[in-house]
Amino acid sequence: MTVVGRPEETLGHRLPIYGKFQQREGMACGEGHDHVGEDVYSTNQQKATTHIDKVRLAAIELVGQAAIPGTLASLARLNVFEALARAGDGVELTPQELGNQAMPGKVINLSYLGRMLRLASSVKVLREVATMSEDGSTEHRYGLEPIGKFLVDDAEKGSLVHLLLMYQDPVFLSTWNHLPESVLDDSVQPFARAHGGLHAWEYGMQNPEFDEKFNKAMAGHSKLYMRAFLDVYQGFEGVRVLIDVGGGFGSAISTITARYPHIKGINFDQPHVIKACPELPGVEHMSGDMFESIPSGGDAIFLKYILHDWDDESCIKLLKNCHKVLPANGKVIAVDSVLTDTINFEGGDRMAFMVDMNMMAFNHSGARERNEGEMRKLGLYAGFLRVDVVCKVDQLSVTEFIKA
Ligand SMILES: C[S@@+](CC[C@H](N)C(=O)[O-])C[C@H]1O[C@@H](n2cnc3c(N)ncnc32)[C@H](O)[C@@H]1O
Repeated sequence: MTVVGRPEETLGHRLPIYGKFQQREGMACGEGHDHVGEDVYSTNQQKATTHIDKVRLAAIELVGQAAIPGTLASLARLNVFEALARAGDGVELTPQELGNQAMPGKVINLSYLGRMLRLASSVKVLREVATMSEDGSTEHRYGLEPIGKFLVDDAEKGSLVHLLLMYQDPVFLSTWNHLPESVLDDSVQPFARAHGGLHAWEYGMQNPEFDEKFNKAMAGHSKLYMRAFLDVYQGFEGVRVLIDVGGGFGSAISTITARYPHIKGINFDQPHVIKACPELPGVEHMSGDMFESIPSGGDAIFLKYILHDWDDESCIKLLKNCHKVLPANGKVIAVDSVLTDTINFEGGDRMAFMVDMNMMAFNHSGARERNEGEMRKLGLYAGFLRVDVVCKVDQLSVTEFIKA
């Protein structure tokens, strides 16, 4: 077998295609290695064998997992997912073809790119198709898998790519090292410790480039998840004027008004955020401080990813401000994770716990996901009559705070 002993770097570059192909779709890494292994070790009279301890392997994969988002963010920055989406469904490209389409006119390290594509395939973001010729050389091609489609920027359907880029931004990555300190000293807030004493919102105000990344991440997430919520949640049906408090770039409210054109949408956020908002049909932008006051005139107020940003005291203050401007039959519709008391491994709980950790690392002290009882307490202290968790999509729930 001619590939034995050939450096992997060489395999990653141009691969000649000879004669008849033998299709080996979806070949797992281990299978390939076993095959090569037999040849490699036969000189020692030792047949290669594989021994997997699933628990040990799970542990080492967990420890090494940072390579996954690091690689995916790099592929996104290199426009690889966009290029694969443009190539179309069911199309697979070689690293060379992909490089040419994603980074036209650039000199590309095909070995690096190929290795990144393989890791992305191992977590089913991409699909690897390996084709072997009679001389044993292998050509790898890559296509987008359904998970990978969520990493393609899509203004209409929403996307997770900007969230990936935000989580992988040094501004957020640098906060994790300060978590141990904050466990031992509750006056330490990881984000502020990493960024000269600034909290996330202050930092955003002073760093427009990061603020834009943040708001794009939220916009992609909101578009994606609001489309999903609108398929299962009917609570917007009777609403005439909806105020999205802390609505960022207005992605959520514009998704709601597109589905319910009779709703007049108001997108309310801090002045520097509103200044950067695009014009949106059916949506009026307003700026202010939600802890001071909230625009009146809405029969419902929408809070997505807001309550989890704040401690209980701030949440109660905000909910009281909402209560004040709502009519008697009004409600707050909040979207956040609602934590379960015991872990449900199938129900999106892990993601909810991850967001809870993000709140700890990236936000004010007291920022957290809450369970149903804790959400209810916030609402009742703020004067609401009833608090109901009405539906869940993946790790996110809609909680309604009913005024009367
Ligand atoms: C986590 S983001 C959520 C954005 C949006 N709701 C979404 O889910 O896409 C929190 C938002 O609250 C806004 N915000 C923070 N403090 C605020 C304040 N005092 N008044 C109004 N908005 C505020 C931020 O600017 C940001 O847009």
